[in-house]
Amino acid sequence: MDLKAAINTQNLPQHVAIIMDGNGRWAKKQGKLRTFGHKHGVEAVRDTVEAAAELGVKYLTLYAFSTENWNRPKLEIDMLMELLIKTIHAETKTLNNNNIRLQAIGHLASLPKKCQQQLNETITNTANNSRMTLVLALSYSAKWEITQAVKQLAVQVAKGELVAQDISETTISNALTTANMPDPELLIRTSGEYRISNFLLWQIAYAELYFCQKLWPDFRRNDFYEAIIDYQKRERRFGGVKS
Ligand code: FPP
Repeated sequence: MDLKAAINTQNLPQHVAIIMDGNGRWAKKQGKLRTFGHKHGVEAVRDTVEAAAELGVKYLTLYAFSTENWNRPKLEIDMLMELLIKTIHAETKTLNNNNIRLQAIGHLASLPKKCQQQLNETITNTANNSRMTLVLALSYSAKWEITQAVKQLAVQVAKGELVAQDISETTISNALTTANMPDPELLIRTSGEYRISNFLLWQIAYAELYFCQKLWPDFRRNDFYEAIIDYQKRERRFGGVKS
């Protein structure tokens, strides 16, 4: 069945966020090291980015490395950082050919210098692209993000630049790393785990959640299409009633 043809392009989520989970288990099932799973995860990233851009999704955010991931063995962290640098470098041309802009959210200053440099280079290189924005969440956690937003607003109040009574949902949203991005309408998590894992807690207040059993390295465009089709069947009421 042609899943793509079943998608109503007039009712696409503008922003899709993905928790790419299951790389380690995918590798373990084959008797390989966890890092083998991450390497193959890149193929799933490539296919998903292409599918999202082709459909007309405007923002795709991928949870590539969480604040909590720093607790993993050093060898795995080093390999993941190397893989990120290599992949971002290698894909810059393809991003430009496909008119895709790269952005990153998270505590980026905590990433290795080489990783920061490569990110900055590709972000600058792709800044004028307009078909889709690919957002990598790196050293990201929602509690970290909300904490830094609160600090930022507190400093503004202390300096007399902001009155406490004027703090609103908008001022808070603007102090988050996702300022200027629409909130995700759809959040996908792979690998059969039913958790949010400290991802975009403020922004997903009204997102539709989609959990799929596939491990991330097996995720392909048809799985992405299935998630979109499922999203399009949902009745979104935002706390109201159906008119
Ligand atoms: C989760 O699986 C995956 C990660 C923490 C890393 C994701 C990274 C990639 C797919 C590679 C590069 C990505 C980009 C955007 C270039 P896990 O290790 O938690 O798996 P497990 O739950 O089975 O242990």
